[in-house]
Amino acid sequence: MKTPKLDYSVHTLDNQLLLPAGTELTPEALDELIATNKDASYRSVSFLNYDTVYQDMLSILQKPPYNVIFERLDEEAIFALTKKIRFVQPVLEFLDYFKEKDYYTYKHSLVVFGLSINLAQDLLEKSADRIMELMAGTLHDFGKICVPLRILKKSNPLTRSSKNILEHHALAGFVLLSYYLQDHQSFAAQVAREHHERKDNSGYPLGIPLEDKMVEIIAACDVYDALLSPRPFRPTPFDNRTALEEITEMAKKGKFSLEVVQTLVSQNRKDKPHFRDCEISSEKRGIPPPDSIYGVIVDEEIICPNCHGSSIKRKTPKDEREQIRYECRGCGKEFDEDDLKNIDMEKY
Ligand SMILES: [Fe+2]
Ligand SMILES: [Fe+2]
Repeated sequence: MKTPKLDYSVHTLDNQLLLPAGTELTPEALDELIATNKDASYRSVSFLNYDTVYQDMLSILQKPPYNVIFERLDEEAIFALTKKIRFVQPVLEFLDYFKEKDYYTYKHSLVVFGLSINLAQDLLEKSADRIMELMAGTLHDFGKICVPLRILKKSNPLTRSSKNILEHHALAGFVLLSYYLQDHQSFAAQVAREHHERKDNSGYPLGIPLEDKMVEIIAACDVYDALLSPRPFRPTPFDNRTALEEITEMAKKGKFSLEVVQTLVSQNRKDKPHFRDCEISSEKRGIPPPDSIYGVIVDEEIICPNCHGSSIKRKTPKDEREQIRYECRGCGKEFDEDDLKNIDMEKY
């Protein structure tokens, strides 16, 4: 596997720098980082008993559009299956942070967990034995704590640099979870790094094939829930049929395996056929929402590292070897490209 390299620095929620931009994520670099945290002993708390997590998850999954899949939800069985899951304090802080600051990401984390458990039960042998791994579904977007909220909640098109920062959440999550779980080979860290990879190498951050079935299940549930949810850049969600058609299309292009999509489709049918008996029609009858700007990228927008204003003057360098410098029309601060790399990861 290629060695991933950080394009941006990775910080904790309380702004402690873990690794600077430019770090190559070799096993040695990760071991060194983990060693700095080896004395930490975190309080661990039962996930389902934490705050309103369990009630929130059940109430979300029992409402449309998820209620068709969870129509026969056996609360006791789910509780029995998942009660062993414990999260360390920093992970619970991730949930608290998003519950307060960006409810979509909080809800999405719980839904991807619920959907992926359900899919794994149909697709994987002995899925119950792997339940501790499936908790990774909740943590797949952990790295979003490094993405400024103004980017996560942006309703107008992203600039290329904002898109790069957003996509950086995969590697940021990998670093953060390696650090907190004190293991860079933990499944949760792997899921954070690989949940945007695709089977046909068209994903990010590395463009490697999505090989692990469990990671693939989480990746497919991630896309499915994103389509079904209203987003700032697309206030109208996809309806269930159109969302399933979109994922079917992705499977046909080789991004996911067909059986993962068959399982999602079969769970959405009233009679819940076995996924292998579930014929998938390639006829597209659904209509995607009209107001999406997803994937639309605009030219650079530069934000002042001091006052975060966006009215910026580019200063012409006296000499072409000189770094490009900028001046903020709002506060008058001058800065260069390096300053921008550091500011981008702060939350404002
Ligand atoms: Fe993600
Ligand atoms: Fe996600």
